[in-house]
Amino acid sequence: MALWEGRFKKELDSRTNDFNSSISFDKAMYKQDITGSIAHAMMLGKCGIIEKEESEKIIDELRNIFNDIKNGKLEFDMQAEDIHMFIESELTKRIGDTGKRLHTARSRNDQVAVDLRLYMRDEVKEIIELLEQLIEILLRKATENYETIMPGYTHLQRAQPITLAHYFMAYVEMFKRDISRLEDATRRMNINPLGSCALAATTYDTDRYLTSKLLGFYEPCLNSLDGVSDRDYAIELTSAFATIMMHMSRISEEFIMWSSHEFKFIELDDAFSTGSSIMPQKKNPDITELIRGKSGRVYGDLMALLTMMKSLPLAYDKDMQEDKEAIFDATKNVKMCLFTFIPMLDTTTFLKENMLNAAKKGFINATDCADYLVKKGLPFRSAYKITGTIVGYCIDNDKTLDTLSIEEYKDFSSLFEEDIYQAIDLKKAVCDRTVVGGPAPDTVKNHVEKIKEYLENRHS
Ligand code: ARG
Repeated sequence: MALWEGRFKKELDSRTNDFNSSISFDKAMYKQDITGSIAHAMMLGKCGIIEKEESEKIIDELRNIFNDIKNGKLEFDMQAEDIHMFIESELTKRIGDTGKRLHTARSRNDQVAVDLRLYMRDEVKEIIELLEQLIEILLRKATENYETIMPGYTHLQRAQPITLAHYFMAYVEMFKRDISRLEDATRRMNINPLGSCALAATTYDTDRYLTSKLLGFYEPCLNSLDGVSDRDYAIELTSAFATIMMHMSRISEEFIMWSSHEFKFIELDDAFSTGSSIMPQKKNPDITELIRGKSGRVYGDLMALLTMMKSLPLAYDKDMQEDKEAIFDATKNVKMCLFTFIPMLDTTTFLKENMLNAAKKGFINATDCADYLVKKGLPFRSAYKITGTIVGYCIDNDKTLDTLSIEEYKDFSSLFEEDIYQAIDLKKAVCDRTVVGGPAPDTVKNHVEKIKEYLENRHS
């Protein structure tokens, strides 16, 4: 029998029950539900809304229920409508009428809002830890590759020389922004909806500041209608998750290309790649492909939340029960992707020779050749045009800017001298880019130091 049976004359149709029920997925929030209930019971006791002894009895038994679920001694009853009903029924089963007092001055509407905020707060903490681990690995890889020259790309065409360290640090910036987005949204989320009750708060003299303190919220929400109907935090955080996935899909895409024979910039560790059932030569970058695929799924979760909330009249509507599966799916997948990507990155071998060779062949020092002419007095556009003609000549004659003789150079402009070879040297081209944000080894070292400080400050 449902807890709300009083008003009803008929048993619930089993199809309605199955359709309505959320226990199959919201059981994932049992810890948060019990935590919220314990805080509520403490407050009820403290405010004299229920007897002190009854409050203590409820709290003790809630703790027992928590341990029993955790240790597999208590199974979820799939006939319960949701996790909130299940815990409350179990409590009443165990301690009788006292258990029935827990739901005083509370509704499942504020209860589920609390649970979800607590749940997301826990998940975000784990995701931030994973992002920090990822940044640490990227940072270490950067310190090993200050001088590793590789082609930088635009339009996937070799463009200008960078270093592998410079490349890694680009992703460090992205994942750093992801952390900041998560923290920012969490700050806004960390407000207590408990005490909003069904929608219009309560006539009991509850202490919402106390439950806020007990649950680690900054303060109670200031409007009970908003308290039970707000899911902005779910949307904001899932948007941040989607952005993390977008970043991971970009590095994944690069790793997929780089592990191909056409690029051959990296060699994935055997433990983090898979073979083909038919083609013996294959070593597939499945992990990165799955990450790329799963990013679509997390975007879908965000879209589900946005669409679910669209046009919903205040305050609570059952549509909102749909929030949980989207949130669970998004958090689970982001964690899984980070968890697998981190050791995969850590064990990847970077084929520095191949990167350098690709850099040598791509005319990526053409800009430096033009800049050379500019430094000799030519306007940039004229220098650009001459260099373009030289590149065309090189392509037609199977040469590179390095292998072109000084006589050939002089045919294009008398400004060319022997020092052109120095100017177009890849190492010099990288080392001269010392401007903040550039790939010069010392500049990247400064960046790495800043990030080390950032990580240390986060942990102090
Ligand atoms: N299972 C419900 C949910 O997830 C809990 C809130 C139910 N409230 C209600 N008024 N039916 O949204």
